[in-house]
Amino acid sequence: VDGLFWVNVFSRWVHVVSAVVAVGGLVFLAGALLPGAVPGSSMLGGALQRFKRLFHMAMGLLLLTGIYNLVVVVPKANALGAMKSTYHSVLGTKILLALCVFAAAFMWQAEAGRDLSAALTRKRTLLVTLVLAGLVLLLSAVLRRVWDLDPRLALP
Ligand code: HEM
Repeated sequence: VDGLFWVNVFSRWVHVVSAVVAVGGLVFLAGALLPGAVPGSSMLGGALQRFKRLFHMAMGLLLLTGIYNLVVVVPKANALGAMKSTYHSVLGTKILLALCVFAAAFMWQAEAGRDLSAALTRKRTLLVTLVLAGLVLLLSAVLRRVWDLDPRLALP
């Protein structure tokens, strides 16, 4: 086990922790905080402001560690044989959808910044963000398991 192994472990850890914080935060927002929220309360405004900072931090880390994961994973994926094109198309779709999640979350934050009570009643943007985030997680799980389809790389 060399130093690079631990760098790779660290980058995956930061990637997964950031995903947990970003998606978990969105689920908490949509499923717990906003349904009972009183528009105009200063507690709500402050919570959303703090969540925005956390979410932006998680997004930056997801991008940084995602790009690092790419550098590690793409040369390996090129050696995948028959599963190579499947891996690359799932990976490409995942990255594209992840960028859509970031864009949709930005849109919701902008809507809430303009008119919070309207954003509380019209939940579409937040729901779209959540569905896309769920798909990104599904595709990430597929990526993790595609390696098993290559008999040389399969886990016992
Ligand atoms: C909403 C944003 C994102 C979420 C929720 C997310 C989530 C995840 C999760 C849960 C994993 C699996 C980690 C593991 O099993 O060890 C993963 C792996 C990965 N992610 Fe992300 N990610 C996001 C954005 C990105 C972005 C923007 C990139 C690239 C620029 C990226 C590139 C990768 C790569 C290359 C892997 C490794 C796949 C493999 O194991 O074969 N991710 N991601």
